Amino acid sequence: MALRYTALSTIAWLTLTSALHQPVARDHGFVASPAVQTIRPYTALPPSDDAFYQPTPGYETEAPGTILRARSLPPPSGINATISAYYQLLYRSTDSNNQPNAVVTSLLIPANASFDKFISYQIPYDSPATDCAPSYSFSDPSTIIGGTEIFSVALSAGLPVSIPDYEGFTAAFANGIQSGQALLDSIRAVLNSGYTTGISRNSSVALIGGSGGALASEWALELQHSYAPDTKPSIVAALLTALTPNITSVFQTIDGTLLAGLTPLFLVGLSKQSLPLATWLSENLSPNPTRTAEFLQAGELCSADFALTFVNQTIAPYFRDHNSSIISEPIPHALIEEVGVMGLHGVPSVPIFLYKGTADELSPVADTDALVEKYCKNGTHATIVYQRAVGASHGDSGTYGAVAGYPWLLERLAGVPAAKGCTVSNVKIPTTTAS
Ligand SMILES: *[C@@H]1O[C@H](CO)[C@@H](O)[C@H](O)[C@H]1NC(C)=O
Ligand SMILES: *[C@@H]1O[C@H](CO)[C@@H](O)[C@H](O)[C@H]1NC(C)=O
Ligand SMILES: *[C@@H]1O[C@H](CO)[C@@H](O)[C@H](O)[C@H]1NC(C)=O
Ligand SMILES: *[C@@H]1O[C@H](CO)[C@@H](O)[C@H](O)[C@H]1NC(C)=O
Ligand SMILES: *[C@@H]1O[C@H](CO)[C@@H](O)[C@H](O)[C@H]1NC(C)=O
Ligand SMILES: *[C@@H]1O[C@H](CO)[C@@H](O)[C@H](O)[C@H]1NC(C)=O
Ligand SMILES: *[C@@H]1O[C@H](CO)[C@@H](O)[C@H](O)[C@H]1NC(C)=O
Repeated sequence: MALRYTALSTIAWLTLTSALHQPVARDHGFVASPAVQTIRPYTALPPSDDAFYQPTPGYETEAPGTILRARSLPPPSGINATISAYYQLLYRSTDSNNQPNAVVTSLLIPANASFDKFISYQIPYDSPATDCAPSYSFSDPSTIIGGTEIFSVALSAGLPVSIPDYEGFTAAFANGIQSGQALLDSIRAVLNSGYTTGISRNSSVALIGGSGGALASEWALELQHSYAPDTKPSIVAALLTALTPNITSVFQTIDGTLLAGLTPLFLVGLSKQSLPLATWLSENLSPNPTRTAEFLQAGELCSADFALTFVNQTIAPYFRDHNSSIISEPIPHALIEEVGVMGLHGVPSVPIFLYKGTADELSPVADTDALVEKYCKNGTHATIVYQRAVGASHGDSGTYGAVAGYPWLLERLAGVPAAKGCTVSNVKIPTTTAS
């Protein structure tokens, strides 16, 4: 949920890059094989105007993870790696109301790719606006894309990278169930895409996500047992940084601060798949139409632009009676407990590298400490390397956590099993590169 990632030191990344350059035979087996449209030259249309995003009626009966449509596009700019192919897949998923929906993932295949492993990289796009989805941001140079440094390094090492629009077409930002299920189905879709992309159905997959991207990733790991147990052999590791386990707690931490804009973003996001919350918002936002319009701009501007309009504000004047405690009323409270609090839907069995700043100004470290303790006390399931970065902020933990955990992630992708159980340690961010 960072407004944007702090620029990652490219030098630090490059020194950590290790080669995973073993090309393997392509797996041409496939389940579903819609024709791949090749579109060049290409002028991107925003998702709200692009028919590619609209599934053909009848898609609802397909299994989750089925590819509904595929297209090949010219590689996006701004990625520091040689890209040999760029695909977008529209696939069937399931929203947080257990209704079918269709979601897009963007798949980058680098030069000299390994076809038996890939990364699922969750961008922290943090926006309840459909047209701020990564699949479109890639084609729109005016948008800031967080984390390109990180996946450029993976691509340069020959790892394909899948970047799902995990909030779905409705852009249900902060909804853990929507995000987790869309992520799991994106993995199924990529594993099903061999007929056109060359990716092996038996590939090993590693998840990387920071902040809002860690939210999607963590929910996927919690929901894996119930929603997508077939992905268990495939997902071998996850690197999560700057985790936000509890949305209510985030709200209490950021109201009135630099990051205050996140509250309208997540309330509008959560209202996308909740009629009760949408109704509640319409009844409880300020009677002053200007105030309400300013608040609802969260659903129109991309997150960094919106957050700038909301710096240091409290939400009180945007609600009736200037009462910010109103968001603990039963309707928002119940929804947040259901789709916005981690740790209530299962213990992840995928090995996790977790990195969190003790001075995270967006989500208190205590929430992540408690989540780890809960998972690790369970005993049989969890495998977690938890590094607490002493004094590090939210942005710092996103940046340095990716560097700290990447070698660990590559080992898992190379087939080296993680040491069982949990380890918790306090670490320092590298002072020479800290800013
Ligand atoms: C791009 O990657 C190459 C090697 O993969 C590296 O030498 C170069 O510094 C990188 N450039 C930037 C701007 O990160
Ligand atoms: C791909 O591999 C070949 C052979 O090892 C090498 O010559 C070439 O530079 C590589 N290309 C990239 C973009 O890494
Ligand atoms: C994938 O794994 C299954 C089960 O281990 C095996 O039967 C199959 O041959 C593998 N396919 C490929 C393409 O490696
Ligand atoms: C989430 O955080 C809020 C605020 O700290 C707390 O009251 C609530 O109990 C937490 N929810 C869970 C399920 O831990
Ligand atoms: C927001 O508050 C911080 C801390 O009080 C202050 O340094 C900053 O200048 C404020 N920014 C704006 C835009 O009000
Ligand atoms: C603010 O809203 C909360 C939740 O509905 C309520 O308990 C509290 O009494 C309200 N405070 C004021 C001053 O209206
Ligand atoms: C441990 O995790 C399992 C699987 O998620 C769950 O069924 C069980 O209730 C948990 N036990 C405790 C003590 O939390």
